[in-house]
Amino acid sequence: MNEPSRFRPERPTWRARLRRALAMGVVGILASAGVVILSGTAEAATTLGASAAEQGRYFGTAVAVNRLSESDYTATLNREFNSATAENEMKWDALEPQRGSFQFDTADRFMNHARGQGMDVRGHTLVWHSQLPGWVNSLGAGDLRTAMNNHITRVMQQYRGQIDSWDVVNEAFQDGSSGARRPSPFQNLLGNGFIEEAFRTARAADPAAKLCYNDYNTDGQNAKSNAVYNMVRDFKARGVPIDCVGFQSHFNSQSPVPSDYRANLQRFADLGVDVQITELDIEGSGTAQANSYRTVVNACLQVSRCNGITVWGVTDKYSWRASGTPLLFDGNYNKKPAYTAVLEALGGEPGGDPDPDPGTGGCSVTYDETDRWGDRFNGRVTVRAGSSAISGWTTTVTVSSAQDISTTWNGSPTWDSSGNVMTMRPNGNGGLAAGATTSFGFTVMANGDWSQPRLGGCTAA
Ligand code: G3I
Repeated sequence: MNEPSRFRPERPTWRARLRRALAMGVVGILASAGVVILSGTAEAATTLGASAAEQGRYFGTAVAVNRLSESDYTATLNREFNSATAENEMKWDALEPQRGSFQFDTADRFMNHARGQGMDVRGHTLVWHSQLPGWVNSLGAGDLRTAMNNHITRVMQQYRGQIDSWDVVNEAFQDGSSGARRPSPFQNLLGNGFIEEAFRTARAADPAAKLCYNDYNTDGQNAKSNAVYNMVRDFKARGVPIDCVGFQSHFNSQSPVPSDYRANLQRFADLGVDVQITELDIEGSGTAQANSYRTVVNACLQVSRCNGITVWGVTDKYSWRASGTPLLFDGNYNKKPAYTAVLEALGGEPGGDPDPDPGTGGCSVTYDETDRWGDRFNGRVTVRAGSSAISGWTTTVTVSSAQDISTTWNGSPTWDSSGNVMTMRPNGNGGLAAGATTSFGFTVMANGDWSQPRLGGCTAA
């Protein structure tokens, strides 16, 4: 998880590995993901993330940390997506509400969840005119430059090596035909050069992260996208560090998917940058919405430097424009026609269940990381009974030889002679009704090795 991750969108996710394992006829346990594989035959990917990974791309979503406590939200997020962007929690007002006083707790929760699930992460966003804390607006030019560079540096260093792409500067150009820069404290006091300076500071702070410029209404060829294009061309010509351009892609009937969407992505890619669809949502419903989503996915697949797609939320009910029902899951987490269109465009097949039902008399286990500190992390294993009640269960957790499990809770552990394999049984009789869950937890001392624990199978009594 900790390696520099510039090229990680190309790397197969656990779901891709799951599919390959199935295709090879492997029957066993994919322990790192905590997924019990009960039987194996070759089959197409059945989730957005796995299907995208088969195409060498990611499929991500914006995540609202305060929704992670809702089990359907988290289950859908974990099952379907292999990349995540914090919807609000990594913006300037959230991370540095007072000058020099950084608040990383909520963003850390987001990072722990995403990384615990093996997701790639897009960082959003370092320099933006919106969601700025009030103190930024009262600075003079010298202080503003210092504050901007300090903000970029502190935030990027906090997550150094853990973010695949950062939106370094967001929405710096005006809408309409002028092609001008948008007024903002940065533009007004520092001039055009603030964008270049932000990118140079960002490269120094985390050399492994791809550095993106991100904007909306730049999805087709128009005055605004031409202005961004000219800036990127200039940056590439002068060696200003920029790796990617994000196309937000917020669409509705007034602003539909442009007919030159693919061509516009391609012309940016031809400048020598990656392109990413970063905040996709399309208002509408039914077949029309599905067709628009399909067009967007196909456009990305046709541009080799299009790394992946992020939709701007998991479910319609929490969308920033919920009344337009712009996302892939409805308010009850049902898959919409748009979901099926996206999955099929990615080469996946609907209908599969990536978390196999443990069946009568069985149980299954899944893992997630719940906290991380400088030297340790907490893991949680959730045990789920199958379609009939069980009266006890046993599973194993294996950590690497460098790591130590220092504490456990909600279970009775025993250890093998190496000390790396913990067999966990319930406290008490461990009875679980059909479909019910329980969980146990443990602290792993990393000792420099941040690899995820591997789960064995779940055996029910
Ligand atoms: O969390 C508070 C809550 O405590 C309070 O009661 C409530 C009252 O208004 O506000 C809540 O905060 C809101 C926050 O979303 C979380 O829901 C803010 O008011 C609201 O302004 C904020 O909106 C966000 C918006 O950016 C801000 O500009 C949206 O969630 C977020 O989806 C949206 O995302 C932007 C991208 O960052 C950049 N591109 C455009 C995109 C859509 O606008």
